[in-house]
Amino acid sequence: MSILHDITDSSLASEGKKRISWAQKDMRVLQIIKEQFKKTKPFEHITIGGCLHITSETANLAIALKEGGARVYLCASNPLSTNDAVAASLVKDYKIPVFARKGEDNKTYYKHLNSVLDQKPHITMDDGADLVGLIHSKRTDCQKNILGSTEETTTGVIRLKAMEQNGTLKFPVLAVNNNLTKHMFDNRYGTGQSTLDAIMRSTNKLIAGSVFVMCGYGWCGRGIAMRARGMGARVIVCEVDPIKALEALMDGYEVARLIDAIREADVVVSSTGGKHIIDRKHFQAAKDGVILAQSGHFDIEVNKQALAKLAKKKKQVRRFVEEFDLGKKRIYLLAEGRLVNLAAADGHPASVMDMSFAGQALSAKYIIEHSSELKKKVYTLPLAIDREIASLKLASKNVSIDRLTKEQERYLHSWQEGT
Ligand code: ADE
Repeated sequence: MSILHDITDSSLASEGKKRISWAQKDMRVLQIIKEQFKKTKPFEHITIGGCLHITSETANLAIALKEGGARVYLCASNPLSTNDAVAASLVKDYKIPVFARKGEDNKTYYKHLNSVLDQKPHITMDDGADLVGLIHSKRTDCQKNILGSTEETTTGVIRLKAMEQNGTLKFPVLAVNNNLTKHMFDNRYGTGQSTLDAIMRSTNKLIAGSVFVMCGYGWCGRGIAMRARGMGARVIVCEVDPIKALEALMDGYEVARLIDAIREADVVVSSTGGKHIIDRKHFQAAKDGVILAQSGHFDIEVNKQALAKLAKKKKQVRRFVEEFDLGKKRIYLLAEGRLVNLAAADGHPASVMDMSFAGQALSAKYIIEHSSELKKKVYTLPLAIDREIASLKLASKNVSIDRLTKEQERYLHSWQEGT
């Protein structure tokens, strides 16, 4: 028998409610979708299980889905990213069951995922593909109910693509991360701002004049590097893809191998999706006092086991800052090497999550409307829907843009006019 919810402290609900309404003000696209859902009830008789970061932004998504008729159940997609006050308000004020406690251990994390799956969802929403992973391994009993799933993040989409390619994927998935209105904004401006915010909140170090090493120059890395430079850091980019490395160089950054860059680094952030990016040899080469943080999905980018082995002592020196004393130098790891922007700050601002979660909400609706024709594949929402999200966002910011005249449109679709 599964319990109805599992949260840290229900007395935090009033603080959570304030946070949810604060975020709502900046989620105007999602509010429009919510109003449409209220009228059309696309999710009547549908259960949605979400494994997402439990934040005030996610709360607004869950509320919109519930207004659309869904029964919504939530668990966290990371043991450290839950806002306990928001979880409490969702349960108390919005009657949305949540299974998540900030700081939960691995066993509890999976118990919570299982509690959501016990509800036999028709649609799952993942941020990192953990629910889908379970439904394909220990919880195959859930497969028959599933119409489809949505995936929020780059790492999750990579996992799902691999499943599609080797034929293991059992139902359709909408890759929300593929939306242009998602990765161009959430990954770049969201991760850029929230990662710097987390580093500053947890360390209170001055960024100006520091040497800031960025591992990875994908959409997240671009955003983080841009914001670090904007605050006056000297930014060095480390990237294994020669095209991205070249892009970083032409964007005006220094580009180097990590083993060289880390010798002078004050801060190193990894956002690559890869494993053991910052490894034993890098710890050995680093200078005293270096700060390490990770802004990728899984806590595997910093080799924590190797760091712990090298350390003679370790201690907590500030909230979310652990000191590893290697004898001749000290290394500081933020937020246990977990995604720092959600663990040590509030995650991406609501205004950018507005577009990501508009994509989530419309993807869920798309699954309902197209379930008979969707195959066991990873899909991207049609560009027209992506553009509609952008248009609504512009309108919410009172920005008007030009439109092509008939003649300009004709010209762009023709080949006859030339030199
Ligand atoms: N991912 C990054 N930031 C987030 C936020 N504020 N809410 C939910 N998921 C997120």
